[in-house]
Amino acid sequence: MSPSLLIDNIGSLVTNDPGLGEGALGLVEDAALVVEDGLVVWAGPRARIPEGAARERFDAAGRAVVPGFVDSHAHLVFAGDRTAEFEARMSGRPYTAGGIRTTVAATRKATDQELRANVRRLVAEALRSGTTTVECKSGYGLTVEHEARSLRLAAEYTHEVTYLGAHVVPPEYADDPDAYVELVRGPMLEACAPHARWIDVFCERGAFDGDQTRAILAAGKERGLVPRVHAGQLGTGPGVAIAVELGAASADHVTHLTDADVEALASSETVATLLPGAEFSTRSPYPDARRLLDAGVTLALAADCNPGSSYTTNIPFCVALAVRDMNMTPAEAVWAATMGGARALRRTDVGRLAPGGRADVVLLDAPSYVHLSYRPGVPLVARVWKDGAPVVG
Ligand code: NIG
Ligand code: FE
Repeated sequence: MSPSLLIDNIGSLVTNDPGLGEGALGLVEDAALVVEDGLVVWAGPRARIPEGAARERFDAAGRAVVPGFVDSHAHLVFAGDRTAEFEARMSGRPYTAGGIRTTVAATRKATDQELRANVRRLVAEALRSGTTTVECKSGYGLTVEHEARSLRLAAEYTHEVTYLGAHVVPPEYADDPDAYVELVRGPMLEACAPHARWIDVFCERGAFDGDQTRAILAAGKERGLVPRVHAGQLGTGPGVAIAVELGAASADHVTHLTDADVEALASSETVATLLPGAEFSTRSPYPDARRLLDAGVTLALAADCNPGSSYTTNIPFCVALAVRDMNMTPAEAVWAATMGGARALRRTDVGRLAPGGRADVVLLDAPSYVHLSYRPGVPLVARVWKDGAPVVG
């Protein structure tokens, strides 16, 4: 049993529980939090802190507290370098799905220790900018052995592990992509399913088409994995419709959408996960967040950390992009990066600071959550608690 902790003198607390405070963020001014055994047991105004046993007290000194960010989309198991590809892109070369193969070659050559060190480094980097829950995909192995290895290594760092054997068709199957689809939905799935919770497909021109996507996700579902889909990143396509049809937890990127896609998302449980780091790093137009919000779609905001299209783990940066360039309000963006991410991962224990939730807590060196977008690029994360234990600061 860890000692009970009182985080006191919080200037502004985002609970994400509208029953506890104002608006969707459940904002409480002049607030406090009580943590026991890694869980939030009380959140509310300081004036009403419940009597309790001896507690350790942390003085937030009037600063803001938000829930730990829930990054529901990341590709962290990789090796190699794609600096030159980024540099060429910034000289006008377009982004294509093909660059993935560069990372596949390097990842296959890497040792377990090298891959593990990379994941550890990126998870630690994400934590320093306030991410306390991170999803992690395979997708740079693309053989039975290398995909299973990627998932095994990812599972050492997170429970949110996603099998993405269908990231791109590897070079050895270039002449027979359907044979690769059979591998992904057959023997590779068998080897990977025990290590994963989710299954994902990159449904896009240059990667997998609608029929292939449906076949792979359906096989994954039969094996007990829940679908999520890379859809509409580079152009419109069947990905969103398939995600909704198969009850995917999330359709990700969704930068290019038809009206029917928006309607389908709005009338489904499928979360739309926006990844503005990818548009930033590929110099592409951002998704139309307002169109989705106005239609009633639930949005998540994630970093999409990967060496090709978005080499960042920094959720505050993504929040700032979403506010400045996607017309989201600061409150909508912070909600999407916390509760939205939790919804996209079908988690009720993270993304909120309310009784029963995990005490994944971020203290900002700022008076309000608004500063996450008002002070772009400034490292505002002063302290992070994970399951009630201080891990940063
Ligand atoms: O989410 N879209 C597919 N996968 C990654 C990019 C991977 C890469 O370029 O290495 C993404 O953007
Ligand atoms: Fe991705």
